[in-house]
Amino acid sequence: MLEMKRGRDPIEHASQDELRALQLERMKWTVRHAYENVAHYRKKFDAMGVHPDDLKTLEDISKFPFTTKQDLRENYPFNMFAVPREKVVRIHASSGTTGKPTVVGYTQHDIDTWADLVARSIWAAGGRPGDIVHVAYGYGLFTGGLGAHYGAERLGCSVVPMSGGQTEKQVQLIRDFGPHIIMVTPSYFCNIMEEMQRQGMDPKSSSLRIGIFGAEPWTGRMREDIESHAGLDAVDIYGLSEVMGPGVAMECVEAKDGPVIWEDHFYPEIINPDTGEPVAEGEPGEMVLTSLTKEAMPIIRYRTRDLTNLLPPTARSMRRIGKITGRSDDMIIIRGVNLFPTQVEELILKMPELAPQYQLVVTREGSLDSLEVLTELRAEFDHLCDEDRTALARRLGHSLKNYVGISAKISIQHTGGVERTLTGKARRVIDKRPR
Ligand code: DLL
Repeated sequence: MLEMKRGRDPIEHASQDELRALQLERMKWTVRHAYENVAHYRKKFDAMGVHPDDLKTLEDISKFPFTTKQDLRENYPFNMFAVPREKVVRIHASSGTTGKPTVVGYTQHDIDTWADLVARSIWAAGGRPGDIVHVAYGYGLFTGGLGAHYGAERLGCSVVPMSGGQTEKQVQLIRDFGPHIIMVTPSYFCNIMEEMQRQGMDPKSSSLRIGIFGAEPWTGRMREDIESHAGLDAVDIYGLSEVMGPGVAMECVEAKDGPVIWEDHFYPEIINPDTGEPVAEGEPGEMVLTSLTKEAMPIIRYRTRDLTNLLPPTARSMRRIGKITGRSDDMIIIRGVNLFPTQVEELILKMPELAPQYQLVVTREGSLDSLEVLTELRAEFDHLCDEDRTALARRLGHSLKNYVGISAKISIQHTGGVERTLTGKARRVIDKRPR
């Protein structure tokens, strides 16, 4: 049979037997490495009465305890490291909204693996050596910028380490340097497109062919919207600092059917977030990830809080994840109804007059929660009069009620009326309810 081998690495097209055997070998190494070198894991395994010797099949991982963000916080800063601190060549941290940041460390070998996986990811997105890559993920403690950077260099690209912010300058450099690829959060890319238009440039006329978007949830409709306005292929990159950073999973441009988990380095499970039990195959739930090769900070059954489902392999031999609907922590419950910002995004982007800019404001009066959806007109429709805006608000309100079952106050502002995030991840929910 003539098979197209499209991946950068042969393992991307391995047989299932080969892949599972590799995973098992690496998983055995990982649980032992964690048990022998991290006091936290030894204590937790012992308390549950499990030992690395009990891992005989991949499914046996479910006998081992979960790891949570709380565990990482309690072992702040370096107690989750499984190698002497001197072997750690890089430290990243995620700020978190409250309390101590979560710290992650990498050996030189971990950094190399990460660069290889991001190079593989950029390749899967359609990038090739020689391409110019504009990195607008933030550099610094956030893993986005440096993770993208090392991967693009590893692939042999010319990297522009722009980082986030300075939107005018982003546009100038895109104009002047002619990058083929941009790596950025989808929400910030919308701001960049807006700035292009403000400067009189049609986003479609830019040199960009590929957008590698991630670090926050975004919908299929957002993809259509970005692709049609910017004339590029928009693909989804997934990752999280606790597990590595960007490049844990990457969507293939030829399929655009959800990020492929790089299963030679990460083992996924989907569980019911309430019971911790595995869900039936293909069913949605919370993704749990176990690293298979990390030296400095092996992570066993990390509860990502990301809600998605596992899908069978297509463009590669490895399984995919569906679009992440949101983090379980981002779900807002309004008068008993669960709501994710992505549901509102879908509805807003169904209406051609509305821009992909929105915020959900939740307040409480007495014991009653109320929701206000702030969104705005696209520049082309900014001339609409108050009456038209009211009619649009009514339509959006109806569809929210019909599709999600929530009544909300809808406020449609003029272009630019919704607060922009200057860098990085968009703030979609403003919860003003007393804690
Ligand atoms: O956001 C790493 C990253 C950087 C991924 C650049 C992709 C691109 P953290 O700051 O630790 O790391 O945040 C991780 O962001 O658990 C998800 O909730 C969310 N997230 C990341 N990628 C996606 C995506 C980076 N493609 C958290 N779709 C994760 C939806 C995503 N959510």
